[in-house]
Amino acid sequence: KYEKLWLVAALLLIVGFVATITYGAVGAGVAMVDDSGGTIDANSIGDDENFGDPGVVQTGEDEYAAYVVAQQFSFRPDPIRVPAGSEVTFYVTSPDVIHGFEIVGTNANTMVVPGQVSEITVRFDEQSEVKEYGILCNEYCGSAHHTMEGKVVVV
Ligand code: CUA
Repeated sequence: KYEKLWLVAALLLIVGFVATITYGAVGAGVAMVDDSGGTIDANSIGDDENFGDPGVVQTGEDEYAAYVVAQQFSFRPDPIRVPAGSEVTFYVTSPDVIHGFEIVGTNANTMVVPGQVSEITVRFDEQSEVKEYGILCNEYCGSAHHTMEGKVVVV
C-alpha cells in the first residue's frame, strides 16, 4: 500500500515544478514590459509608471535611466537633464507613429516604434567640454517632422 503514497507524492512534486516554472515565466514577462527594451501598450503610455511622467531616475552609483516619450512633434521631457560622469540608459517609446531618436555627437541613434521600448546606453564623460546635445527625429513622422527636436543637458 505504500506504492500509492509514493505515487501521490511524486505527482504532487511534478505539479509543484510545473507551477514554479509557469509562475517564473509570467513574472519575467511582466518585468520585461516595465523597464527593459521590451514591449508596451502604445495606447496607455499615459498610465505607465515610467512613461506617464517621463524623466530621469537614478538606478546605480553613476547609473541613470532616462524615460523618453517621442510624440508628434516633440520629445518629453525637454530638456533631458543628466549628471556629468554618468552612464545613462535611454528608454524611448512612442504613442503615435514611428520616430527617430538620435543624440547628435553620441552613439545614440535608434528607431522608436509604437508598442516597443527602444533602449540605448550613453556615457557622459565628466571631462567632456560638451554640455548640450541636440536630439533629432530622423524618421519622417508627419507634417512637422523637421521641427521635432529636443535637448540633453549635462549638469
Ligand atoms: Cu518624429 Cu520625425
